[in-house]
Amino acid sequence: MSFPRGFFFGAATSAYQIEGGTAADGRGPSWWDDFAQVPGHIADGSNGEVACDHYRLWRDDVALMQRLGLNAYRLSIAWPRVMPRGRGPVNPAGLDFYERLVDALLQAGIAPFVTLYHWDLPSALAARGGWQSRDTAQAFAEYASVVARRLGARVRSWATLNEPRCSAVVGHLEGRHAPGLRSMQATLQAAHHLLLAHGLGVQALRAELPGTEIGIVCDVKPYTAAGSEAADVQAVRRGDGFFNRWFLDPLFKASYPSDIAAELAPWMPVQGSDDLRIIAAPIDSLGINYYTRGHVRHDATRPYPHTTEERVPGAHYSAMGWEDYPQGLHHMLLRIHREYAPAQLYVAENGAAEDDVPAPGGRVHDAARVRYFQGHWAAAARALADGVPLRAYFAWSLLDNFEWGHGYRKRFGIVHVDFATQQRTPKDSALAYRDFIAGLR
Ligand code: FCB
Repeated sequence: MSFPRGFFFGAATSAYQIEGGTAADGRGPSWWDDFAQVPGHIADGSNGEVACDHYRLWRDDVALMQRLGLNAYRLSIAWPRVMPRGRGPVNPAGLDFYERLVDALLQAGIAPFVTLYHWDLPSALAARGGWQSRDTAQAFAEYASVVARRLGARVRSWATLNEPRCSAVVGHLEGRHAPGLRSMQATLQAAHHLLLAHGLGVQALRAELPGTEIGIVCDVKPYTAAGSEAADVQAVRRGDGFFNRWFLDPLFKASYPSDIAAELAPWMPVQGSDDLRIIAAPIDSLGINYYTRGHVRHDATRPYPHTTEERVPGAHYSAMGWEDYPQGLHHMLLRIHREYAPAQLYVAENGAAEDDVPAPGGRVHDAARVRYFQGHWAAAARALADGVPLRAYFAWSLLDNFEWGHGYRKRFGIVHVDFATQQRTPKDSALAYRDFIAGLR
């Protein structure tokens, strides 16, 4: 396997999943704080109040990354820490936190990749319609300017949003994430306003930071047919269209995919005449989050896109029930390079949850996760060899953390966290990653 000099190998986290300190130093509430309070929303009844206590332990976490030999870190900024009411007054203590963190990273030789929105919408904006309201997109641009002004060019790469698809679909159609809705109308309107927020955010960042790398992070998933009926081929088209093209087409082609738009015609979002032009303004990089494929069959009893996932005999499935399918990463990188041609690509998240059990002595022998990573590093190397302008790779996640609706029951970390003591223990996968990176230098 070969990776070019200067390639970034890092780990990723997000604010609500690791920081804790949700009431510290003037942070306002987010809709995830509210969502987690409702019984039944989080599998173990938990929330992000303490999480990995990273708000206090961040120095240790930076030192840990340095010991692992990582040269990049993808973090997200909590909007409610910076602007507790979403709009208007800025909380200087929130900005101070991220400034100290970014400076410590730079001092440790770790390049900061910053995502501005990883799902923690300020509750005050949620109360005014959340992403169904066009004003939220405008508010996001104001927030982006505030953060850019303070952190400036110290950030190596900016991403406006993490996974607009997940924000829209899992939050507004599947009801499993905040705000917990089940409406196609709300989903497509939220998706449109998220994309618009990205576009307005890019404008705001460009105005503050000309010449700095700016992009977005999208979750992508290849679809394959589990059946051989014509309906199964259609299921693959719809699955792919709704998951991948619904977001990548507006971002890179300034249009919604016509086949999917025709099927979703009754719920098409209200749009401004200039929106798609704003959404598709050129960006410098696209981050993709890749975990698994969708191996699907047509299922008319299921809501749109009318698919049901099937398992492949003999394949490995993680604790999330996701297939270890590294060739899908290679496939998606090549396809995106050919069809959408972003100037640069990076893998912003890739990883697996396993039911890790520390061995006597505390070591975590996460052999399945090690295999998962090795397969995906090889897939990334193959994509590079095939000419994909891939610049960075981030393991999800640095730490076991608050895995949204699953609470603390799903462990994605390369570092084990004992949530009773906050002790961090690098798992075998972290050590394998460290050795892999060291071997390339
Ligand atoms: C992605 C999210 C990330 C984490 C992983 C497992 O969809 O961006 O926060 O939950 O999945």
